[in-house]
Amino acid sequence: MKERNPMQDLLTVALPKGRLLEPAAGLFRHLGWRCDLGNGSRQLLVTEAGTKGQGPSALRFLLAKPADVPVYVEYGAADLGIAGQDVLRESGRDLYEPLPLSFGHCRLVLAGPPDQRARDFRLATGLRVATKYPRLAQAYFQQQGLSIEVIPLSGSIELAPLVGLSDLLVDVVETGRTLRENGLVPLAEIVHCQAAVVVNRVAHRLRLAPIRALLAELEAADAALQSAAADTKTGGSS
Ligand code: PRP
Repeated sequence: MKERNPMQDLLTVALPKGRLLEPAAGLFRHLGWRCDLGNGSRQLLVTEAGTKGQGPSALRFLLAKPADVPVYVEYGAADLGIAGQDVLRESGRDLYEPLPLSFGHCRLVLAGPPDQRARDFRLATGLRVATKYPRLAQAYFQQQGLSIEVIPLSGSIELAPLVGLSDLLVDVVETGRTLRENGLVPLAEIVHCQAAVVVNRVAHRLRLAPIRALLAELEAADAALQSAAADTKTGGSS
């Protein structure tokens, strides 16, 4: 049997810092990769030779800010990556998105103080909306035929209406705790999102075999981990 040169079918995978890192890295760990990023380490790039499966014989993992994952993948600095669909839709990058994952579920919502519930936004002028998602927020209000001023922020969005920086906010809600603890309420759901694997379009054409094999492995790992988590929840009683 012909020996594989581990570096010949090396694929680079971009992983996002923050909430999605552990479940994303968990998929690769389930497949036997160490995926030694995060966990207190400051290393941003690790290369690993693999030994099992039909997938690539080596992977290089890079750790990026979530909003930068689509950039690394579109430019081909990473062949594939894992990111939230909120970040992917906001980026507007041209990526192949073959595999939604079972984690990272959240809702992009319009939210604000409870007294905004009764407000007719069609009558409002100069409405200010704070958000990390300026494109998605603009698109949503345009769809409603409303013109707004977007206040772009990079975090702690819930603060903006509390101190008069904005009337409303557009942000993701996962558990709802941040809104609740700041006395805010969701006013409308814009889109549901979850984590997904994205692939560089050129890499997908040129390196079809190892990418396809890795996608199949990731899909199986995601299903296995999801069913293990469901078993734990039900105490394995099914
Ligand atoms: C995200 C998001 C909300 C919060 C929602 O912020 O922007 O603030 O999580 O989660 P919850 O519904 O479970 O409370 P993140 O923790 O990423 O920090 P950030 O405010 O610095 O962006």
